[in-house]
Amino acid sequence: TARLCGLEAGQPYEYCIKADGQCDDWHALQTDDGGAFSALIFPDSQSNDYTDWKHLAQGAAEHNEGADFFINMGDLVDNGEDHRQWEAWFDAVAGIIDRIPVAPLMGNHETYNEDWKVREPVAYLHEFALPANGSEEFAGRYYSFDYGSAHFIALDTQTEEAADFHQGLLEAQQAWFREDVKKTDKTWKIVLMHKDPLQYRITNRPDRKEGFSDEGRAWMPLFDEAGIDIVFSAHLHTYRNRGHIKDFQRDASGPLYILTGVAGNVRYPGLWVDHALDKVIAPQPETDNYLTLCVKDASVEIACFLPDGTEIDRETLRK
Ligand SMILES: [Fe+2]
Repeated sequence: TARLCGLEAGQPYEYCIKADGQCDDWHALQTDDGGAFSALIFPDSQSNDYTDWKHLAQGAAEHNEGADFFINMGDLVDNGEDHRQWEAWFDAVAGIIDRIPVAPLMGNHETYNEDWKVREPVAYLHEFALPANGSEEFAGRYYSFDYGSAHFIALDTQTEEAADFHQGLLEAQQAWFREDVKKTDKTWKIVLMHKDPLQYRITNRPDRKEGFSDEGRAWMPLFDEAGIDIVFSAHLHTYRNRGHIKDFQRDASGPLYILTGVAGNVRYPGLWVDHALDKVIAPQPETDNYLTLCVKDASVEIACFLPDGTEIDRETLRK
């Protein structure tokens, strides 16, 4: 990791990486000017072959050359201990990740070892240098950052799985969230979480009820209280715009909930039964998709696209 200090807002820079006396190519780097910006959002990219992910990411970057950074919503790789998958993930975003920053999330697949048992997400925590959250024990698991007029909060939804290694992760994270959100004066407050707050019925489990997941029940009241504007989630590999929800029901004054879809080749065709709160669903069976997020001071525009650039959803929020 290299830390760059003393950079000025809204300035173009160039950098190169020197190793063993050799300098690689010069790469462009642009700092946040505090004004309007756009970001790409990629859902789960976990794959057994990362070709589709590469195609999606490169195509999205080509269609959106002005994107200031990108977000990957967790489950970046299928197996977090398999270094070949990390290499494939990085290879897929070559030419993008060296030019714009990435805001990654930790999903459940980052925590698996090669025997598919949960362990510390060692590779994930080493691959990315993320903003400090005030905790040494939970460093890298959850964090927040500002860009333009937006404050982003990236959550760790692997709290239950981590219970064998860490005590009180959910409580510590929620205490941090309450303080973090209180401190921001940004116009837009945006939450990023891997696991989805809604619970869907699934076709092969008739006992499973539609409603809200453990993560939803734990976090949605905090989002209502904090005045969060948008909640992006992932994990289910399907795109759903559920509109605004408050106090666990349809309410225009609550956050907008977007389940971001799928960006790799692990797909669950015909698995999910539509939720009563679903407003827009991607064409079935689903291929990959990505989102764009354009933030101006008084408006936010979210759009969802298939790999060929076909738009399948658009939503605008205004203040
Ligand atoms: Fe997941």
